[in-house]
Amino acid sequence: MKVLLVGSGGREHALALSLKASPSVSSLICAPGNPGIADVARLANVAADDLAGLVRLATQEAIDLVVVGPEVPLALGLADKLAEARIACFGPRQNAAILESSKAFTKEFCQRHNIPTASYATFTMAGPAKMHLANLSPPFVLKADGLAAGKGVVIAESRSEAEAALDEMFSGRFGTASARVVVEEFMAGEEVSVFALSDGRKAVFFGDAQDHKRVFDGDRGPNTGGMGAYSPAPVASADILNSVMDTIISPTVAGMAAEGRAFRGVLFAGIMLTDDGPKLVEFNARFGDPECQVLMARFRGDLALTLRACALGNIDAAPDFDFAPDPAVAVVMAAQGYPENPLTGSTIRGIAAAEEIDGLAVLHAGTKRDEDGTIRAAGGRVLTIVAMAPNLADAVHKAYRGVDSIMWPMGFCRRDIAWRALARG
Ligand code: AMP
Ligand code: GLY
Repeated sequence: MKVLLVGSGGREHALALSLKASPSVSSLICAPGNPGIADVARLANVAADDLAGLVRLATQEAIDLVVVGPEVPLALGLADKLAEARIACFGPRQNAAILESSKAFTKEFCQRHNIPTASYATFTMAGPAKMHLANLSPPFVLKADGLAAGKGVVIAESRSEAEAALDEMFSGRFGTASARVVVEEFMAGEEVSVFALSDGRKAVFFGDAQDHKRVFDGDRGPNTGGMGAYSPAPVASADILNSVMDTIISPTVAGMAAEGRAFRGVLFAGIMLTDDGPKLVEFNARFGDPECQVLMARFRGDLALTLRACALGNIDAAPDFDFAPDPAVAVVMAAQGYPENPLTGSTIRGIAAAEEIDGLAVLHAGTKRDEDGTIRAAGGRVLTIVAMAPNLADAVHKAYRGVDSIMWPMGFCRRDIAWRALARG
């Protein structure tokens, strides 16, 4: 089949490799892609949020399956536009992508369907939101309702800090995303990411991972899109994962179908493992980045046929797949200044040397290739180094050997990826 992949990050480079390796795929196009993806797919110069351009491209190329990486085109309704053109799309329609694009919708949905999550209240003005803080004890959790690239959540240690954050949010810090703000109960525990594929009716477990959101070692500094990840998550026993499927993911897929919002795509649940059992932190309507990179390293099967079965509403038609038992680790290399002000343009050398390490891949995100082949930084998160080994310690060691082969003085990475899992022994 002919596949069109939408996106340009490390997540999409990982998806591109697995799609390319799918026996069912005869040709792979990626829009807009990046210099790493260019080695395995034909790039089309259409932006990920250019819905009309993407539908035109898919029609012209007689595409059999569109795989959507990022959340923005889903929230804009790319899957709906493709459905009108009768093109199969892996990724939910706008009315189902709302599980990610509106936190207020998701909180109300959880309440309707008895899905365990933090208690909450929603506000459209700072005054009442501040009064509500008196009912809670710190830390206070404040969330912009809409999409804010993973940066719309504030955890405030004191009431004054929370009040200042509310003022900022209602004065437009996240644009229209923070016109509504959700104030939540704080949940203590360890977080785990659980993935499931859905065909709109049924959910099938698709791997677990943990990531590192903060920019600096020791989980300090501002939140980012993710600085590293590993899969599987040692903290998530089979019992815990079954309970997440039974109490959170399957009821969500069933509830969405019952509300006329069938979810076809990958449901990514951020879960807090609390003393009262697993509770939902948030849903995403897409793969995580860098979680996708570690899931794809472990995936064994024909990814294109699997995703197409979901897109066509019959996951049972997918061929068998599974995940290698060996752990995978991803270390993100970012440009200095990330996440606030990444410095672009610096030269990166040594990628080929790193790739000579067996069981290691260098995935591109924000890179640019000069005509002479020189690779330069062109974004915040620039490379993901992914390594697999029979045990986690060796996988981590291998990933950092890869990092150390790369000569990029203007880049940085965290040096403690997987510390929680390694500490468990
Ligand atoms: P979100 O974008 O909703 O995933 O929130 C970003 C991060 O904030 C999460 O990954 C958690 O680490 C933290 N967080 C969000 N909501 C809560 C909560 N109710 N209690 C504790 N931590 C939270
Ligand atoms: N790494 C977290 C995310 O993709 O949302």
